[in-house]
Amino acid sequence: MEKKIVDILKQNHQEQLLEFLPILTPEEEEKLEQQIEKINFEQLQQLYESTKQKPQIEEKKIEPIKYVDKYKLDQAKKEELENIGRKIISSGQYAVITMAGGQGTRLGHKGPKGTYALETVNGKKYLFEIIVDTLKKAQKEYGVTIPWYIMTSKENHAQTVKFLEEKQFFSYDSQKVKFFVQGELPLIDTNGKVILDQNKTIKEAADGNGGIYEAIAQSEVLSDMKQKNTQWIFVSNVDNVLSNFVDPLLLGLTVKQNQKIGAKSVVKTNPKEKVGVFCKMNGKPKIIEYIDLPEEMAEERDEDGELFYGEVNIGNYLFHRSVLENLADVKLPYHAAFKKSGFLKPNGEFVEPNEPNVYKFEAFIFDSFVRYDDITILRGKREEEFAPVKNKEGNDSPETATKLYNRQQ
Ligand code: UTP
Repeated sequence: MEKKIVDILKQNHQEQLLEFLPILTPEEEEKLEQQIEKINFEQLQQLYESTKQKPQIEEKKIEPIKYVDKYKLDQAKKEELENIGRKIISSGQYAVITMAGGQGTRLGHKGPKGTYALETVNGKKYLFEIIVDTLKKAQKEYGVTIPWYIMTSKENHAQTVKFLEEKQFFSYDSQKVKFFVQGELPLIDTNGKVILDQNKTIKEAADGNGGIYEAIAQSEVLSDMKQKNTQWIFVSNVDNVLSNFVDPLLLGLTVKQNQKIGAKSVVKTNPKEKVGVFCKMNGKPKIIEYIDLPEEMAEERDEDGELFYGEVNIGNYLFHRSVLENLADVKLPYHAAFKKSGFLKPNGEFVEPNEPNVYKFEAFIFDSFVRYDDITILRGKREEEFAPVKNKEGNDSPETATKLYNRQQ
């Protein structure tokens, strides 16, 4: 191994990698060296330190956030707003991003989550196909082919592209589909050490859906949008089979309220539901996780009996293009998750642990909202907007999502 690489490892307390040298071929060694040169070990050290610190108690002023209930709008107002949105969509200024860079660990499907199929009343439907169905429906309705950008990760990019090519993009115009790849961060063990994967490279994982801003900035996406005169971009998850991501109402409402970010919500079923909800924190829009919302606040209701903190985040966001431009170099906080991950031992043995053994660091897309004074929130109905495929069984599983999907057909 080159001296400068050994020095990097020593300076950053990662000498354990040198123990693997006897089992590496010259090609593997070279690959590892290249990877080491690219890793920001200083940042990794800071992230490791952050796992040992207790969360800081900052002065937090939590308040409810304003929202509009789709079903409380009168017909004339609804039409007015929808017309604003429709005009923008049919003039070709609207695009869609699907975030598909996640690992889908809870579902446990081999391959990218979008390649998972549900058995529905419309036959076998891949998650990507369900998205294309919505795009095709919009094509008929608005007479335009909406550009579709798909965020992948290094881990699943090749498989995602291959799958969609093989399926011929489910007959969507492939010229309108573009992929971009998000960044990665190494996993570290409880001593802050990086680990090796079966293929003898340092094990890295996608840096969370908050990696979207940097990934967009480093790709051709922004210039492509500019060239197409895209003004508004809807961003949603690959796994919500009811995502209504071509929504003139949210668009019209966001424009009318003069905001640059819009989001959809559904009502929290009960104060104890384990979901993140929209609020204002220190005057800025924020999503607060159930764990961080004090119990008495979670129970508080307004004079109509609605929970003050009852707007559940369903991962459906609308951005003006300027937001994506402004956030190109945003630094979001990373959240550490303690997970199970297989690792290589210096003797070449690959170990699959039974207990969590590594930290994975993820940024969240909505952590950027605090940079804005306000956002538009449109409350819809859960059964019309939200049916995620997260777990293998039970809640938010293929079974529950299929039922909800079937009901909407
Ligand atoms: P989740 O956080 O639910 O993760 O992602 P996941 O990968 O689907 O599932 P688990 O947690 O590993 O079981 C919400 C959305 O954000 C995307 C996912 O693809 C999904 O559409 N995502 C997540 C990314 O695009 N990149 C990431 O790094 C993480």
